[in-house]
Amino acid sequence: MKVSVKVPATSANLGPGFDCFGLALPIYNTITIEELVDPNEEIQINVFSDEFDVNEFHIPTDKTNIVYKAVDLLFSYIGQTPQSMRINIYSDIPLARGFGSSASVIIGGLVATNELLGRPADNDTIISIANEIEGHPDNIAPALLGGFVLSSVESDGSVTTRKLPWCEDWKITMCIPDFELHTSISRSVLPEMVSLKDAAYNAKRTAMMVEAVHMRDEKLFKLGMQDKLHQPYRMKLVPGLEDIMKNLKHIDNVLGTALSGAGPGIIVVTSDSNTDVIKNIITETWNNYGVNATLKTVQIEDRGAEII
Ligand code: HSE
Repeated sequence: MKVSVKVPATSANLGPGFDCFGLALPIYNTITIEELVDPNEEIQINVFSDEFDVNEFHIPTDKTNIVYKAVDLLFSYIGQTPQSMRINIYSDIPLARGFGSSASVIIGGLVATNELLGRPADNDTIISIANEIEGHPDNIAPALLGGFVLSSVESDGSVTTRKLPWCEDWKITMCIPDFELHTSISRSVLPEMVSLKDAAYNAKRTAMMVEAVHMRDEKLFKLGMQDKLHQPYRMKLVPGLEDIMKNLKHIDNVLGTALSGAGPGIIVVTSDSNTDVIKNIITETWNNYGVNATLKTVQIEDRGAEII
């Protein structure tokens, strides 16, 4: 038996919602898991991409691969160990750019395995297993559920998630630079402790964002999409980020600019799809720093992982 699952890219944080907000975007990875008939065959893992040279990324194709780890955890959940299988990963989501490529393959592996096993795990269980590997749920939750999602890891390891509304007029411009930044490095520059003032600042902004998406309140959204917990520390890792944010701040239809997840990608939320001015500003600003980027304006993807 063989199951294929298509999973969207994601953008986490959206400014103030560090490790909490995430939304799904219409670029996809597809994970196919095939049970092999001969139980003596090794686990096979293959990675393909039409978008980039997979060899450049040295993606492990042994049991250290994160898709295999996810599969193994789900088998453990039902008290079994994985049998011979072939895992094919078709990757269109750019790697190490802040668009949830690892969350998407973990979710793809879990949803495909769950289907092969007769669906022993519900969505909450899938998210909590995925979180064991990823460490934070903000990319995982929208990769599975689609749309704009808030998520929180509880002390027992369970993950609370809620899908929030999103105004269909609000578009996302994905800005994908030509350099990589690994999440571990981007997290290593964050402080252990922050001031009460900064924590309160983000609590207020996050609350504003929740109300803004419910009320489709653009003014409130614009106020909300600001952050003092992670972006200020990460500016030094993403040349041009500070200038791009400054240069887009007063453009009419811009509702907010944020580092996408741990970066180095950036997202710009706009109130319509008229983004030529915005794209020119980003291209020119990044050019000053010798950075080339692919820019793409999209609608958020309301569907999450799908068996195809
Ligand atoms: N919330 C995470 C971070 C997303 O900002 O580090 C990256 O996967």
